Amino acid sequence: MKTIFSGVQPTGTVTLGNYIGAFKQFTELQHEYDCRFCIVDQHAITVQQDPDELAKTIRSLAAIYIASGIDPEKSLLFIQSEVPAHAQAGWMMQCISYIGELERMTQFKDKSEGKEGVSAALLTYPPLMAADILIYNSHIVPVGEDQKQHVELTRDLAERFNKRYGEVLTIPDVRIPKNGARIKSLQDPLKKMSKSDPNKKGTISILDTPKEIEKKIKSAVTDSDGYVKFDVENKPGVSNLLTIESALSGIAIPDLEAKYEGLGYGAFKAGVAEAVINHLTPIQERYGELLHSSELDVHLDRGAEKANAIASATLKKMESAMGLGRRRS
Ligand code: TYM
Repeated sequence: MKTIFSGVQPTGTVTLGNYIGAFKQFTELQHEYDCRFCIVDQHAITVQQDPDELAKTIRSLAAIYIASGIDPEKSLLFIQSEVPAHAQAGWMMQCISYIGELERMTQFKDKSEGKEGVSAALLTYPPLMAADILIYNSHIVPVGEDQKQHVELTRDLAERFNKRYGEVLTIPDVRIPKNGARIKSLQDPLKKMSKSDPNKKGTISILDTPKEIEKKIKSAVTDSDGYVKFDVENKPGVSNLLTIESALSGIAIPDLEAKYEGLGYGAFKAGVAEAVINHLTPIQERYGELLHSSELDVHLDRGAEKANAIASATLKKMESAMGLGRRRS
C-alpha cells in the first residue's frame, strides 16, 4: 500500500484554509493509503512560542485531527518531538542543502522580510520538513498550495541523497486539492487565509461559533457587481466564497452559480455561512468530547511508538549510507 505523510503546525487556531487544504484531503485519503499525520511542534518553535500556549495548542490540534475525521486506528497520529528521528534526519538533510536554495523559498522570504533577529531555523525549516516526509518512505504528501515548493525541495534533497549515498530514500509526490488549494482571506481575497493574519475578520477558525462565522462571512469583501459567478481574476471575493461552499458541500461550482442566480450577495453569503456552520458543527462537538479525554493520550502514545519504529529504521539506513557511526564487520 502506498504511504502518505503530512503535518500541521500547532500555532494559533486551525483555519478554514487549513481544513479545506489539508484536513479534508487527509480524511478522504486515509481509506486508500497508509497514512501518517504529524503535529509538527518542532517547526512551530522556529518562531518564539509561549511554552504553555504551545502545549495547549499541541493537544488541541491532536483533537482537531481526530474530530475532523482522522481515524487513529487506521492512520498514525503523533507529535514530531516525540520521535527523535525527525531532528536527527533533519540535521542530515541540512548537511546536503545549499544556503542559496533555502534562501529562495518563498515562505522564508515572506516570514523574514523586514524582520530583525530571524532565527537560523526559519532558514533550515525546509530540510526538517524534508526529513519528516522522507523518514516514513512517503509516496504522497497532501498539502495546500503554499507548501508545494517545500515538497519540491524535498524531492530534490532526496534525489541528491540517493545520488551521493545510494538508493535509500523514496521520492515523494505532492498532492494539492483540486478545489481549495489556496483559500483566501475574507477581507483581502488576494491574500491566503492565514493563522497569523492580524485581521481576525479575514480568517475563520474551525472552532468559531456559528454567530462568529455568520458575522465574518457577512462582512466578507466581494464586489459591486451584485451577481454570483466564479471568476477569480475579476471577482476574487465571490470566487473564494464559492470555493469554500463547494469544498464543504461537495456541490460543483456551476451548480452553486445556478443556486444563487438572480439572488443578491445577502442571500449568497447566508448560504455560504450555512454550509460552513453545517459542516463544522459536528466537528466542534466531537472536538469538545476529545480535548480533555484520556482517549487522546492513548492514540498519541500509540502513534509515537509506531512512528518511532518506522522512522528509526529509515534513519539507520540513512546513517549507514552516509558512513555515520561505527561499521561492524
Ligand atoms: P501549516 O501548519 O502552515 O498548514 C497546514 C496545512 O494547511 C495548508 N494551508 C492551506 N490550504 C489552503 N488554503 C489556505 N489558506 C491554507 N493555509 C494553510 C498548508 O498548505 C498545509 O498543508 N510546513 C508545513 C507543516 C509541515 C509539513 C511537513 C507538511 C511540516 N512538515 C511535512 C507536510 C509534510 C506548514 O507550515 O503547514
